[in-house]
This record gives sequence, structure tokens and C-alpha cells, in this order.
Amino acid sequence: MQYQFPDNFWWGSASSAPQTEGHSLSGGKSATIWDHWFARQPSRFHQQVGPAETSGFYQHWRDDIALLKQLNHNTFRTSISWARLIPQGRGELNPQAVDFYQQMIDEMLAQGITPFINLFHFDMPLVMQQQGGWENREVVEAYAEYADKCFQLFGDRVQHWFTFNEPIVPVEGGYLYDFHYPNVVDFKRAATVAYHTMLAHALAVKKYRRRQQGGEIGIILNLTPSYARSGNPADQQAANIADLMFNRSFLDPALRGEYPQQLVELLAQHGQLPECQPGDSELLEAGIVDLLGINYYQPRRIKCRDSLVNPDSPFMPEWFFDHYEMPGRKMNPYRGWEIYEPGIYDILTNLRQNYGNPRCFISENGMGVENEGRFAQAGQIQDDYRIDFVREHLQWVHRGIAEGSNCLGYHMWTFIDNWSWCNAYKNRYGFVQLDLQTQQRSVKKSGEWFARTASENGFSG
Ligand code: NOJ
Repeated sequence: MQYQFPDNFWWGSASSAPQTEGHSLSGGKSATIWDHWFARQPSRFHQQVGPAETSGFYQHWRDDIALLKQLNHNTFRTSISWARLIPQGRGELNPQAVDFYQQMIDEMLAQGITPFINLFHFDMPLVMQQQGGWENREVVEAYAEYADKCFQLFGDRVQHWFTFNEPIVPVEGGYLYDFHYPNVVDFKRAATVAYHTMLAHALAVKKYRRRQQGGEIGIILNLTPSYARSGNPADQQAANIADLMFNRSFLDPALRGEYPQQLVELLAQHGQLPECQPGDSELLEAGIVDLLGINYYQPRRIKCRDSLVNPDSPFMPEWFFDHYEMPGRKMNPYRGWEIYEPGIYDILTNLRQNYGNPRCFISENGMGVENEGRFAQAGQIQDDYRIDFVREHLQWVHRGIAEGSNCLGYHMWTFIDNWSWCNAYKNRYGFVQLDLQTQQRSVKKSGEWFARTASENGFSG
């Protein structure tokens, strides 16, 4: 069967400043929480590789954009680094950063690649974290100023903006499960961080609209469909709670301008609601997006706990359910995550049926592979597994669109193998292989497949 996509479908890939720019403290950039954490606890990072060691987009941006062009991208997402643009978090701009981002954006446009620019990708400037990070409402204001500065500087040429990438991840990582700095484990603080992040998002949206620059602004959410592991009503209810906590806590404010009542009640019942101020509801309402980016990797498989883990233990999502593993599901053999292609269709269908069918696109999807060098033949990684992965997800996206979903594009994670937080280079995701020592780039078989697919606006399969 031929899978043909609508005209002007966005074909591209996604990346981020902290994962690609490299040599972290060069060019007038100040430290982020990642530089700080790595300097203190390098052993928390795979093979002790920190944020300085990347594909060096800060130096190689021109060649990399040429490579994007070679792979027939018509769109590409990266982010601006707050710590690079405004090293003190507030106030003075770093002129080197202004130049860098200006040139990078201009070059993309010159190559016919539409820039999708995200403003925050887990990379809190250290100076802001030292003031309490997202727990402090002052930081919300500082972020909105930074966002507005970006609109002022680049908004004449950038027409697709995103306030945050996967805003729940710093909440889970930094305040629930200890895989991001500041390594806090405390649900109430996590809830405050999540809430303030959405206020920051809404403030930025408001500022963007005020400027009337003719583009659109959105947010990128990692949506993990929550499937009950059985038809048992308790499992169904637990799956609903997981959905409220991990998806709807961001999706509902972004698309409806308010939190789900059920979530508010659940948190209130357990004394976990963050503090609100007068005017917050109106602000959240102003944050309804023009465009939603959907990152999809794997679903959650939810099973209700027979009883509370330990009623005296601190409140955590695990009070209610177990997630993830479910024996017998199809797994990525090279990384261990479940592969469930229809999940992407379920997300699109849910958005169409329950959220007014917003303008959206797949902003990340991809397959991490450990020790990928073993698949090289005659100097090229033969990643047929990745081609299958992308093709099969795209088939479900195609079906979603055929049924009326307003899905406008597909971005792979990622372009060149990149540094991935605590996992560093453990799992490779790129269309292009990176030799970290020589900085040599080699297009993988999947990159060639994607270039063909993008130029033909579809594939047969
Ligand atoms: C989501 C994040 O946006 C990105 O930073 C990360 O590296 C990929 N997923 C892969 O895990």
C-alpha cells in the first residue's frame, strides 16, 4: 500500500541546544544545572561523559544544516539556550549568542528549512536554580522575560515557537525520581514545579501574542498513553489516575486552559495542591496553544496496587499503580522500551475526539540503540530496525490523518547521535552516526530512507 501524506507535511527531526551545542561554557554561556551536576557527580553520567562533549553544533552548525538539507528536511527543531543568551538569567544579553542564533536561523531559512524553536529543554541556568528554580515564582517572571527577548530578537524569522519540551520530565527527574538535578524526591514540591512551569508557559504565550508577529506558539508534550493491564475496574481506575498525573496535568492546561477537576480533587484530598494566586486561572486560560508537539516513545501499562505501598510512606504516584513493564509485549531489543506503534494513533484519536482536534504534529519519535557500532557494514550503520520503527509509526499516523486528525508533520528524534543527559551516549538515536573522537558524521541507512520518504512525501509499505 502507498502511504502518501498531505501536501506540505513537515518532515524533519528534533534536537536541543544542551544536547548538541557542546563545549558547554564557551561563547559566553553560563552554567546550567547539567554543568553543575556533572562537575559534582560525574559518576551519575554514563561513562562519565558530560554536557561539554557533543557533536559541536556551536561550531559545526553550517555543515550540519547542509546535512539536514541533504536529508531533505523541510523543518528542524532545536532550542535556544537561556544560559547562553542571557548568562545571568535576567538582564544583559550575550552578543555572541545573539549572533550565533541569528546566523543559525538565517542559514536554515536560506536552505529552505523552517526553524522550529523551543525555549526550554531541561536546561535551567544555574543562577536561576540557585534562586529556587521553578519553585520560585520570580523564576517564572524571569523565564517570561527571556522568552519575550527571543521573540523580539528572532520572531521576525521564526514562525513556530515552543515554550517547553517535555515539561513533566524535569518534574519527574528533578523532584520525584532522582534522575535530574536538584535530585529532590517530594511530591508536593514536584506539583509546585509543574504548576509554575505551566504559569511560565502561559506568560510566554501571552507575551508572544502581544507582539503580533504572525507566527504560532505551542508546547511539546511527551504523551504516554496509559493502558490498564487488565479489564479489572481497579486497573482501569489506576490507568485513569496515571493519565491524569502524567499526561493531563500538562495537556489540559495547554489545550483547555485549565486542570482536570479530577486531578485537582485527588491532590486536594491528599494535601498535595500547590499554592495558587489570584489571577492564575485567567493566566492559564491565556496559555492555550496554537500548536501541540507530541513526543511519543512508549505507553504505560498500568496495574492497580492491591493496597497502598505503605500508607505512611510519602505521597507518590506509586501509591496508586505500577507502570511500564508488561510481560509479552513487543520490546526494543537494543534498549528495553516497549514498542507499541498504535499508541501514536491512540494519541491522535484522543486529541481529535476529546480536545477539539488541535493543530499538532509528532515532534519526537525514535529508537535508542545501545552499542550501535555493531551494526556497521562497510562504514555505514545498517539500521533496518529503525527504518521499520519509523515506517510502522508513520503508518499509524497516516491512519490518524485519514480519519481526520489535524496532524501536520513528523519529526524524528534525532538528527545526529547526541548527548542524552545521564545516559550520555549509551543509546544512539540519530539518522547520522557521530564519531565522538573525530567528530565525523556518517549518514545511517535510516537517514537515506528518511530523505527518500521526505522527498516523495510518503512511502510504500
Ligand atoms: C526526549 C527528550 O526531549 C530528549 O531530550 C531525549 O534525549 C529523548 N527524548 C530521548 O530519550
